[in-house]
Amino acid sequence: MLVLENNNVTTEQVKEFDKKYNLHSWSVQGTLNPMVIEKAEGIYFWDSEGKKYFDMSSQLVNINVGHGNKKIIEAIKKQADKMAFMGPGYAIDVRSMLAKKVIEKAPDNMGKVFFTLGGSDSNENAIKIAKMFTGRNKIFSRYRSYHGASYGAANLTGEPRRYTCEPGISGFVKFFDPYIYRAGIEFESEEDASKYYVDKLREQLIYEGAENVAAIFLETVTGSNGVIIPPKGYLKGVREICDEFGILMVCDEVMAGWGRTGKWFACENFGVKPDIITFAKGITCGYIPFGGVIVDKKIAEYFDNNMLMCGLTYNAHPMGCAAGIATLEVYEEENLIENSRKMGKVLGELLEDIKEKHPSVGDVRYIGLFSAVELVKDKNTREALVPYGKDPDKIMSRVIGMLKEKGFSTYHHENNIMIAPPLIIKEDELREAMSIFDRVMCFVDEYIKRTI
Ligand SMILES: Cc1ncc(COP(=O)(O)O)c(C=O)c1O
Repeated sequence: MLVLENNNVTTEQVKEFDKKYNLHSWSVQGTLNPMVIEKAEGIYFWDSEGKKYFDMSSQLVNINVGHGNKKIIEAIKKQADKMAFMGPGYAIDVRSMLAKKVIEKAPDNMGKVFFTLGGSDSNENAIKIAKMFTGRNKIFSRYRSYHGASYGAANLTGEPRRYTCEPGISGFVKFFDPYIYRAGIEFESEEDASKYYVDKLREQLIYEGAENVAAIFLETVTGSNGVIIPPKGYLKGVREICDEFGILMVCDEVMAGWGRTGKWFACENFGVKPDIITFAKGITCGYIPFGGVIVDKKIAEYFDNNMLMCGLTYNAHPMGCAAGIATLEVYEEENLIENSRKMGKVLGELLEDIKEKHPSVGDVRYIGLFSAVELVKDKNTREALVPYGKDPDKIMSRVIGMLKEKGFSTYHHENNIMIAPPLIIKEDELREAMSIFDRVMCFVDEYIKRTI
């Protein structure tokens, strides 16, 4: 029995109190048996029995710099000593410096940033900003997307995590995204696929009254719904439609931003400049909850003479700002954006081998250190391992359990297994982790053959 020194509770008590008093997100509480975690360092964490895990999802694709980064921890300590809090109405050094740094990193059309506490409230505030700036009411977003769990963000969200917020906010319209693997259409090229989806979107906008639409929200690279990478020309096509109808293009980079795709912002991979970018996760990598909304210069200027009707007690919180500055410096000093690109290439090659080898692996998608493995019952027909929204036998959870048992920690959404390690990962570590994945997939192939 281990004793957690700081809190003077036993491992058994940690588990007991958690089960008794703590509500976990997105879970049927009675089915949970949470692992007790003792320690986390770099790309690893350890459970209470001393077992070590590769953190191959960077927790919730947020801890890009890895666990236990001393520079960020020191920055937070220093800020706590100096001034833990100062209301959002005041200018303070870390607030000004982080805002300047974020705008310098963002595409060159960007003017200012409104800091929040996470991804959902970044999207909540982006909705309001888009409505205020355009004077329009409707908001478009995509079915295969996750934008957060608070009410407005959940109404942007297209997948089932939206249902409990329904009936939804009027004027929120969903459209289908280019998920080529499951489109059921044979496109001649990526460009053809993009044209098809952009034309459909244009038609839908006209039917909704494009002059009523304030913004189109999209995850630049769809994250938790299976790392769906936009085909060539798609985002440019959406940009053109936005320009044609005076609609704001909002890229949600909560997961894809801050180096995950091998660029500071994912939109740089596709040569588009959105009007608004929302971000969170990688700005402070979970050391402090933080996020923000970056707005184009013309939107920033609009609010020079019009009130920005957005507010949070913890807007631009000093501790978050200090952590954000230190985090951005870590990205720079440790060349993490470049490492994401370099290791992403290795990961891509390993994933292609895995796809080739395993009958249960239908598709692999990857960009930088952001990837997903999609499992199927039948590779030829592409029949999904579990039907959309249904997994009564918990097959996917079992697969995740098998990985965990071998020291490879990650999570899944529907049939997609997320693989998105911290950007600090080295090649030998990546190869070692992926060889565990490969071996476990052999069991999965067998398991699927036996049970289905
Ligand atoms: C793309 C995207 N947007 C928004 C969110 C919501 O962020 P948060 O959980 O910090 O509210 C997430 C969370 O995973 C996300 O992946």
